Amino acid sequence: MDYQALIEEVYKEVNDLNLKGKVADYIPELAEVDGDKFGIALVDLEGNVYGVGDYEEAFSIQSISKVHTLAMVFHKFKSKLWSRVNVEPSGNPFNSIAQLEYEKGIPRNPFINAGALVISDALISKFENPKEEIIDFINELVGHQCVKVNESVYQSELDHSERNTAMAYFLKAYGNIENSIQEVLETYVYHCAMEMCCVDLAKSFSFFANNGYSIFADREILNESHNKRMNALMLTCGFYDESGEFAFRVGLPGKSGVGGGVAAVMPNKFSIAVWSPQLNEKGNSLKSIKALELLTDKLHFSLF
Ligand code: DON
Repeated sequence: MDYQALIEEVYKEVNDLNLKGKVADYIPELAEVDGDKFGIALVDLEGNVYGVGDYEEAFSIQSISKVHTLAMVFHKFKSKLWSRVNVEPSGNPFNSIAQLEYEKGIPRNPFINAGALVISDALISKFENPKEEIIDFINELVGHQCVKVNESVYQSELDHSERNTAMAYFLKAYGNIENSIQEVLETYVYHCAMEMCCVDLAKSFSFFANNGYSIFADREILNESHNKRMNALMLTCGFYDESGEFAFRVGLPGKSGVGGGVAAVMPNKFSIAVWSPQLNEKGNSLKSIKALELLTDKLHFSLF
């Protein structure tokens, strides 16, 4: 399979479609990004890297980081974690509060904001310096020091985090937050403000395609059973109320972020990251999803 030719073809076809969306602006600093950026990086399981467009430029990974933080706590909590967070698609926007009340403070899944706040709380309980641990973990997955936290994005989101703050208080009222609200919010916003390029992001997802073993860290990150569950969660919940649509069009486990990034894996073959900041109304990148749809349609193999 000539992956380089494939992603170049996809890149051109998507650009020719002239898709227009909206750059996220509810975090003011994100609105400063050039909406025309577009990059794709594919990393196979031998570590070969293929890239096109703005694939080496760092961008705000936002909610994609929820996958990294869940992977960090997965083996530490075993089944206990799943009494605090469910594993069902939410069918609601990523920042919905309403569902939390109906479901008595147990978030639908770890990838909506409420669920990720619980995971941040779990990280704070488990690690002495959770923020540093998150960065170290991702750098290890990539094989070099690449993660940077954008301080302006961090501050910008903290200054405008009324919804997440409300959600954190709500969770605490149900006894589902152990630590201080401020610390939970800061940890959560901090990991959302991490910046990486498509190559490094794809590398950080490589172990999900490789039964839990990272070729860049040279160790098992998750056992096969936990890795299977992470992929299942990404497939069913990775795109919020567009998860079914993504599975239908693309058919890969993946995760989006409002910075316009999407990371996904083809188990036993490759990991891939796509970035284009213009979003659809569900908060997912228009071009990134289209690129993955075209790419999986052109492959001669599929997950299903
Ligand atoms: O909490 C927020 O709203 C952002 N830090 C992350 C949201 C996000 O990326 C949703 N993804 N599509």
